[in-house]
Amino acid sequence: MQPTDDPATHRYARMRWNTPLSEEHAELLLQRLDVGPGARVLDLGCGWGELLLRAVAAGGVDGPTATRGVGVDTDDAALARGRKLAADRSLDRHVAFVMGEVAAWHEPADRVLCVGASHAFGGTGAALTALADVVRPGGRLLLGEAYWERPPTTDVEQLFGPEVAALPDLIERARAQGWRTLHVSTADQREWDDFESTWLAGRQEWLLAHPEDPRAARVRTELDDRLRQYVGGYRGVLGLAYLVLGR
Ligand SMILES: C[S@@+](CC[C@H](N)C(=O)[O-])C[C@H]1O[C@@H](n2cnc3c(N)ncnc32)[C@H](O)[C@@H]1O
Repeated sequence: MQPTDDPATHRYARMRWNTPLSEEHAELLLQRLDVGPGARVLDLGCGWGELLLRAVAAGGVDGPTATRGVGVDTDDAALARGRKLAADRSLDRHVAFVMGEVAAWHEPADRVLCVGASHAFGGTGAALTALADVVRPGGRLLLGEAYWERPPTTDVEQLFGPEVAALPDLIERARAQGWRTLHVSTADQREWDDFESTWLAGRQEWLLAHPEDPRAARVRTELDDRLRQYVGGYRGVLGLAYLVLGR
């Protein structure tokens, strides 16, 4: 009989959000997103929506000008975590978590977040086009997007695909598609190391607690491979840019 404590359920356990981002950096991004009272906030590929919840809280949730938010994702467990976080912060009347494909969402919002999820639209260019239709005129988009900080080896390029560009090319692409860049900042090395470590940590802890589990060998190999890929491959090579865009 399989033990019930499934290692997969520990995958995100140690993560605050599923992107390389410090608390301080998140605060800066929320300032630049400038969520006003009564705004409608949409997070496409929200995961468990930590940034969405903070954006809605920043806009204020009292009275007739309460800010409201919607997060869309295809991951049931992440959405359930988001609903619980919202309820714990008394934000459940203000934030809805919806199961769905990002590309199928067409209701516009004043502030849109799309962090680490442009692949769900088919890549950066397709995302920038689709997101133009869901950001209301005068609104803002927070785009969290991978870029090459240094030229990748062939192996690393294959791992992340041909869509990833250098930062100047990413910004130029946004400009060419009609967006104005209101803010740009990038994840630093400590944010990346923390992201990669916390991504592994839930399952590392599971492994230490279940060394004899029949699934332990597979989990150990997965974790070892990922850490090798990071420290020996894309650490310092793959970057993550946060752009606040308007149009
Ligand atoms: C790297 S995670 C980022 C999550 C979140 N934005 C954050 O910063 O914590 C990407 C998210 O996109 C979601 N996703 C992937 N493909 C999707 C699709 N076609 N439609 C909706 N969500 C999708 C995944 O389930 C995952 O939660």
